[in-house]
Amino acid sequence: MTNNRKIIMDCDPGHDDALAIILAASKISPLTIEAITTVSGNVDVEKNTLNALKICDMIGLDETPVAKGADRPLFKEREVAEEIHGETGLDGPVLPEKPTKELAEVHAVDVIIEKVLNSNQNVTLVATGPLTNVALAIRKDPRIVPKIEEIVLMGGGTFGNWTPAAEFNIYVDAEAAKIVFDSDIPIAMFGLDVTHQAIANRDIMNDFKAIGNPVAQFAADLLDFFLTTNEEVFGLEGGPVHDACTIAYLIQPSLFDLKHVRVDIETKGEFTYGMTSVDMLGVTGKQANVTFAQNLNRDGFWELFNDSLKSYG
Ligand code: RIB
Ligand code: CA
Repeated sequence: MTNNRKIIMDCDPGHDDALAIILAASKISPLTIEAITTVSGNVDVEKNTLNALKICDMIGLDETPVAKGADRPLFKEREVAEEIHGETGLDGPVLPEKPTKELAEVHAVDVIIEKVLNSNQNVTLVATGPLTNVALAIRKDPRIVPKIEEIVLMGGGTFGNWTPAAEFNIYVDAEAAKIVFDSDIPIAMFGLDVTHQAIANRDIMNDFKAIGNPVAQFAADLLDFFLTTNEEVFGLEGGPVHDACTIAYLIQPSLFDLKHVRVDIETKGEFTYGMTSVDMLGVTGKQANVTFAQNLNRDGFWELFNDSLKSYG
């Protein structure tokens, strides 16, 4: 597969979702964004859909449809992360109150199904929020399964950030994640093990600012807020731009060390609900279903990001 993929970005913007969209839509990206679909996650789907429209306005992504998706997980109650992303889900940057871009009238799940079934090449789903929409699409029309090139998702890991065992995207809708991980669709998983290597600090924020175009300034403003909340909530030395790792992989896979492993999703445990059980040593004897990203070339990642921001000049 060349890097010239058609992608659908299912997301919950969210600062790091926004950075992933900026990277995917840049002039150095070989990717074609067929659609952006939104799902309840960082904040409720109404808010993050508004954010998606505003992000598209900001970066000039005029032709790509934005469609609103699930407003809650399959079974659980909604859970949000406003302590990380703020009340709007995109606190920090100053954006117009109302977007000019129109929201698609079709539900996100139907957009995913229609785009995948009607595409002349297999489509890659990039999922950077809870997997509710992706699971619903698979269940509603299984014909999409053989026509999906890969699901490239940010989620999970060998440790958690929402519980000790579970990462937020998986934890919010573990039942949906189980449907996706058991679907036989090839998965590339960017969990906390690797996304915590993509930590932005204030030097990186200032590098973005120095580029001097509006999109680079927007990215710097996103980081300014996101760094602070990650430092305060998790005690990290900056903000891990989790979701951008999915797009960096699609543009430059050599930035990552990858390992094929078996990953199963825990949906029953009192302390482990939402855990991605990553079989690093193959002890289950089960067939591998995931390309698991282990390590990141950090300098190369930030060089790619800076080049992408410069391309908006
Ligand atoms: O745990 C990090 C993930 O949860 C990221 O996708 C972030 O945007 C939030 O959705
Ligand atoms: Ca996200």
